[in-house]
Amino acid sequence: MPWYKRIINQIITADQLFHFYIPVSGLKSVIVDRPEMRVGEKKKVLIGDKEILLFYLGGDRYLAFDSKCPHLGCDLSKVGVLIREELVCQCHFSHFSVVDGRPIKGASKRPIRVYPVKVEGGKLILG
Ligand code: FES
Repeated sequence: MPWYKRIINQIITADQLFHFYIPVSGLKSVIVDRPEMRVGEKKKVLIGDKEILLFYLGGDRYLAFDSKCPHLGCDLSKVGVLIREELVCQCHFSHFSVVDGRPIKGASKRPIRVYPVKVEGGKLILG
């Protein structure tokens, strides 16, 4: 399968995900169906007009970030990698804490937004 089709397949449309949505900035109380992901996989999900990047760590553990790098906006679903407890944007090698999103080293001086994720049954609660 060509690379671009794999990326397209990883983008979940709102129709596939939405169960319940309150359009509050900051993504309060957004509940989505739990996507099928392999351990270590990342996936971009569209929630309203927001693009959220999910990483699946196994079990009920997920990490969620804005999918755009706060430095110059590279798409982290393509160039973002997790290295230990850091999210790294490979555009200009900014490192962000996965705990609070603060920039640790590299080009970005601005933090990335981190969304808490809870799992309840077959749903993810973001925000
Ligand atoms: S766009 Fe991510 S580090 Fe520059």
